[in-house]
Amino acid sequence: MKDNEFNYYNKIKNWDFSQINCEIESLTNWDISKILNEKATKKSRILDLGTGGGEVVINEFPVALEIVGTDFLPEMIKTANNNLKKSNKKNIKFRIMDNLNMDTDDNYFDIVVARNTCIDARQIYKTLKKDGLLLVRGVDKLDCWQLKRLFNKGQAFNDTKPISQIDYENILDAGFKNVELIPIYEREYYKTKEDLLALLLKTPILNDFSEGHENNNLKEDNIDMQILNRYIENNTTNREILLRRRYYGIIANK
Ligand SMILES: C[S@@+](CC[C@H](N)C(=O)[O-])C[C@H]1O[C@@H](n2cnc3c(N)ncnc32)[C@H](O)[C@@H]1O
Repeated sequence: MKDNEFNYYNKIKNWDFSQINCEIESLTNWDISKILNEKATKKSRILDLGTGGGEVVINEFPVALEIVGTDFLPEMIKTANNNLKKSNKKNIKFRIMDNLNMDTDDNYFDIVVARNTCIDARQIYKTLKKDGLLLVRGVDKLDCWQLKRLFNKGQAFNDTKPISQIDYENILDAGFKNVELIPIYEREYYKTKEDLLALLLKTPILNDFSEGHENNNLKEDNIDMQILNRYIENNTTNREILLRRRYYGIIANK
């Protein structure tokens, strides 16, 4: 499964969502960036796992003593370093690291952040200082569920246990305290069918990353347009196409 994900992210490494015309309505009040900015101080050391192109770290992370963004994809780190050069931000470093084979020092970070990426709770526990904070945000099994049911496939479609629950239990089992799992509900409104299609081609929503299933390397020609049209017919209000998103947040202390 890891190789599939590596290939997948390698393929879509130049993603650019800015062209997609979409409005987001939050139904839940849990914002990982807001919490991070409230909890961090100028003395914090922060680790961002699966950091991607670094835009969020550079633009949304608080000023801190040290921020390290890591990703297992060399191209992502290259992009992140290019983005960093263009910014005036200090105390930020990007480097390659596999989240499942972490090489960071023990008892070193005050905060570890993992947004939309996989985690190993025990390794995060080791690298956090005592009382250090873990913040996770991920995509839940029930994300875009109506769409996935129509296509009869999708990210986590065949998982028997939702990833949110697996992460939550692993975080508890690693020894964390004050562990809270928060369901996050959002509505997205797409202007056109092309906007929705662009999203589906750039994200793994209709790919199958479930354990034991091969990644089907989604291409335009294997999105069944009849099914997509049916979804759009049933979910268009005021000429905008509604997609119901389900994420989860986890907050915990070492
Ligand atoms: C969906 S993107 C999220 C990027 C960023 N965290 C964000 O939320 O905007 C997932 C990122 O996790 C990285 N990733 C996936 N599995 C990883 C692993 N085992 N170790 C390190 N990075 C990983 C991918 O390369 C990709 O950059």
